[in-house]
Amino acid sequence: MVDVIFKFFHLINVITAYKSTEYSKLIRSSTKQKHDLIESHPFFKRLIKGNLDNEAYAAYLFNLSYIYREIEQNFYYEINDMDLIQTKKILQDIESYKKFLNLDSDVFCVSFYKDWLNHIKSKPRFFRKTDLYIRWLADMYGGQIIKRKVKFGTKYVFDNLRNKIKKLRHFIEQGLNRNNIQNFIEEINNSYDLHYKLVDKLSRYYNIEK
Ligand code: HEM
Repeated sequence: MVDVIFKFFHLINVITAYKSTEYSKLIRSSTKQKHDLIESHPFFKRLIKGNLDNEAYAAYLFNLSYIYREIEQNFYYEINDMDLIQTKKILQDIESYKKFLNLDSDVFCVSFYKDWLNHIKSKPRFFRKTDLYIRWLADMYGGQIIKRKVKFGTKYVFDNLRNKIKKLRHFIEQGLNRNNIQNFIEEINNSYDLHYKLVDKLSRYYNIEK
């Protein structure tokens, strides 16, 4: 009898794991176009060549810090892993770049995030995971390339990265189902657009040509 119960639960685990992997694959393939568009933005092209001004990178970090803060206020206890708490790390990086920050400039376009936030907050809480997906995985993948090109890249450092990616994906997948997956993907694509607008604005300000 115990053996039958064990086999039953094992089967359930295999089915859910399979479904989860499928969701991750679907998200990746359905958002790849937007990812590749932002990855090839001149702002990031300069960054990975190591040619981006410290001032522009500091402004980028400053703008992002609001997104991290918002996500972590929502999911701090559920994430439950100090190594995944990015606000602390990004503030440390900003502090290191402090002398390059000119807080009087109008490039601190934090307002870019406010409308988006109001929009996403009007949806079930689960949808706030879109930014968690975008920001954390950006740091875990692209960030590993970027970290070699910046002076201070604390936010790209994770213990046991592969494990952390797995853990994060698992957390994001919780709550996904066939009824909300398409909408979730749509919001991820919207969030990519928002990030694109941010680097576009920074690029105009710092004369980074297309
Ligand atoms: C220097 C620029 C960037 C480089 C070189 C880069 C590179 C990469 C690479 C190599 C992957 C793994 C892809 C795979 O395994 O198929 C990845 C994944 C990812 N990147 Fe980027 N990336 C960059 C910028 C960005 C930006 C700006 C964002 C968000 C605004 C972003 C968000 C993501 C996300 C969410 C994933 C996970 C996709 C998935 O597997 O579900 N990346 N990136």
